Amino acid sequence: MEKLEIQGSLSNSTLLIGESFHNYKLYLPNKQVIVLMDDKVRGLYGKYFEDYPIIEIGQTEKNKTLSTIENIMGQLLDLNADRSTFLLAVGGGIICDIGGFAASIYLRGIEFGFISTTLLSQVDASVGGKNGVNFKGFKNMVGVFNQPSFVLCDQEMLKTLSTEDLNCGFAEIVKHTLISDAEMFEKLENNIEKALNIETDFIEALVANSVRIKAGIVNKDEKEKGERRKLNLGHTYGHAVEKVLGVAHGNAVSIGLAISAKLSLNRGTITANDYQRVVNLLKALNLPIMVTEKHEEILEALLMDKKREGNEIHFVLMHGIGDVSLELISIEELKKIEL
Ligand SMILES: NC(=O)c1ccc[n+]([C@@H]2O[C@H](COP(=O)([O-])OP(=O)(O)OC[C@H]3O[C@@H](n4cnc5c(N)ncnc54)[C@H](O)[C@@H]3O)[C@@H](O)[C@H]2O)c1
Ligand SMILES: [Zn+2]
Repeated sequence: MEKLEIQGSLSNSTLLIGESFHNYKLYLPNKQVIVLMDDKVRGLYGKYFEDYPIIEIGQTEKNKTLSTIENIMGQLLDLNADRSTFLLAVGGGIICDIGGFAASIYLRGIEFGFISTTLLSQVDASVGGKNGVNFKGFKNMVGVFNQPSFVLCDQEMLKTLSTEDLNCGFAEIVKHTLISDAEMFEKLENNIEKALNIETDFIEALVANSVRIKAGIVNKDEKEKGERRKLNLGHTYGHAVEKVLGVAHGNAVSIGLAISAKLSLNRGTITANDYQRVVNLLKALNLPIMVTEKHEEILEALLMDKKREGNEIHFVLMHGIGDVSLELISIEELKKIEL
């Protein structure tokens, strides 16, 4: 097991990577605990949490809304939750985003922790203290920065994931290696089978490495004033794809990474060989690299993006593998790219 710390402005967070979820009670405070899960995770793991009341919500992004938050507030009230109550969110990125937000605003904030059950949430969503929901079609429009007391990531839980949900997590891992770890990128290139077969040691090392990268960036810039923007690699275009095509977050990010690689190639900041390596790695991990429809709508969604400045959009571009920078890209430049 590897333990990492994030120093948040409000509180610190302990990340437990490779800890068995059977030990979760060791990390709970001695007070009322309420568990939040989606129906699928409850069906798979609910029996391990029966000592506590469980608030169940539906799956998918369509539930990541203020009305779900309102529903959770109502159930917390019915369960007599008070300032000393601890909310334990058990699930993927959606449950962590919703649970962290609900806990942060109920009674102006109660303590909370995560058991992170998808690869995507273990390497990304549950790390860093961004919590929130979508609003009027915009991703993560309403929310807070607030760190969970702990995040427990047990790689054994990943074995029940669907292939698609597993692959989505790899998109965020590739993103982290592209931002700052050329060595891990190469290791992943050379161990695709181990990754896809969720070989425990390999996956644990991969998750720990990814979390180390993200935690290192968050510790420098929790509120995304500068350095943390690098983590948006693949996400500017990715969020537009997610919104217009309704594909899973990880798949959209993969397409966004391929677009960023292409823009970087066109600007000469990565070589044709490195561009090909990025595309090949995404493909080997069964991730999509292009969209075949609704190009115009995606461009329109991009223009409505929060990161826009006039007719230009903030994009994270690559400098070789393992380094990135924030650049402005014009709509014309975007229209020109072909994958
Ligand atoms: N806060 C952040 O910094 C941050 C970062 C990245 C992504 N996100 C958010 O994370 C969300 C995507 O996360 P996700 O892909 O984990 O989504 P998710 O929570 O919907 O999980 C995907 C699916 O896997 C199921 N599942 C969860 N754990 C399982 C398990 N162990 N076995 C079998 N099935 C399981 C869920 O029921 C769901 O159907 C998006 O909303 C995205 O915006 C947030
Ligand atoms: Zn993401």
